[in-house]
Amino acid sequence: MDRYAHITGWGAYAPPRIVTNEDLAHVVPTSDAWIQDRTGIRERRIADEGEYTSTMGIKAGRRALEVANLDPGRVELIIVATSTPDYLMPATACLVQDGLGATRAAAFDLNTACSGFVYALSVGASMIRAGAYDNVLVIGTESMSRVMNWTDRTTCVLFGDGAGAVVLEASDRPGGLLSFSLGSDGSGADLLTVRLGTRLPLGVGALATGETYMKMNGPEVFRFATRIMSQSTREVMARAGLGVADIDLIVPHQANTRILQVAAKQLGLPLERIFSNLDRYGNTSAASVPIALVEAIGAGRIQAGDRVVMVGFGGGLTWGACLLEWSVDPEGRTWPAWRRGVYWTRTRLARARSLLHRADRRLAALEDRLRRRDNLRVNGPPDPDTNGHARPPAPDA
Ligand code: COA
Repeated sequence: MDRYAHITGWGAYAPPRIVTNEDLAHVVPTSDAWIQDRTGIRERRIADEGEYTSTMGIKAGRRALEVANLDPGRVELIIVATSTPDYLMPATACLVQDGLGATRAAAFDLNTACSGFVYALSVGASMIRAGAYDNVLVIGTESMSRVMNWTDRTTCVLFGDGAGAVVLEASDRPGGLLSFSLGSDGSGADLLTVRLGTRLPLGVGALATGETYMKMNGPEVFRFATRIMSQSTREVMARAGLGVADIDLIVPHQANTRILQVAAKQLGLPLERIFSNLDRYGNTSAASVPIALVEAIGAGRIQAGDRVVMVGFGGGLTWGACLLEWSVDPEGRTWPAWRRGVYWTRTRLARARSLLHRADRRLAALEDRLRRRDNLRVNGPPDPDTNGHARPPAPDA
């Protein structure tokens, strides 16, 4: 029997702190008029202290699970798309898994910058279609403000923070993710960078170079984005045996209004067919497509049966598009208060289970230590001859 991957839940989270263009004009030499005219952005959300890529991802993920009515304890796989992880290690996805109390889920990060969510959606849907998993939680979450150089007006006005998530579930009902198309071109790797990693020795030296902040060749990235958005959209439609005229709505990566205008023209579609909330969030990288998707659903722009293209492009360079046949009636997913209450309790219980695991691991370690101490007391120290680590290797004869 054929398997299909449908989106059954969605949720987004944006930090409450709003930073307007006027606010930024006090920080760098810029103006509201310049930013609005060149990008379409009016304001963006910035994470406060204590908010991280993982915590925003947890909030978005929890909302998506609620809409899907899926207990966190039943989630099988979590993919977190991010280029601003909490740490190099562990994966942000593991922090999200723990925070959600998704005790049975596998979890990994995926970093293809602003196209991360589209890549992650393609991977998650492919896992479902291959029969490996019955459900996957796909999250795009970013703390772009933490890698900004707040003295560089060419980048800091463009980006914002936030998270969005969807639940994918297996079904034998045709629809859901119909096709995807992904691409990359590493020859453009230097056009958009945050060089925080192992190639540049970490520490004060790296900070002094300023290389750990985002750097971007704006005009080059602009050229690439305008070309690739329409190309990628055409490709994903062709892979499903369809044409651009069959698209009901495009939910694109939100980078610049002018990019969307050029793409609409190249595709021969009215601009209204391309959803945008860029004015209120700026570019939230891997979070931008899922946040826009959630807002498009909330605004009644997506109905059951609609063909929706999500398209992303960004650092790497990378790009990708997914075509979905929307199968869920969003109206039917608005739960009454009692149901939300039950769900809230279940997520807290799942989180408590996760905390119990942590406590149990600590207890097991303590038990081990005490047992070894007792053994030492009863049997004395181990014979060095029987302990391979007690002696250095014998010199060559
Ligand atoms: N406020 C005021 N002036 C600014 C400014 C700002 N925030 N940022 C740049 N400028 C100035 C530049 O210094 C330059 O001045 P100069 O001519 O005196 O040197 C002038 O504006 C034009 O700069 P330019 O880079 O050519 O502007 P642009 O019209 O190409 O717009 C971007 C710049 C960044 C908005 C545009 O290139 C862009 O959107 N690129 C794509 C970025 C993107 O989407 N990245 C993420 C992809 S995932």
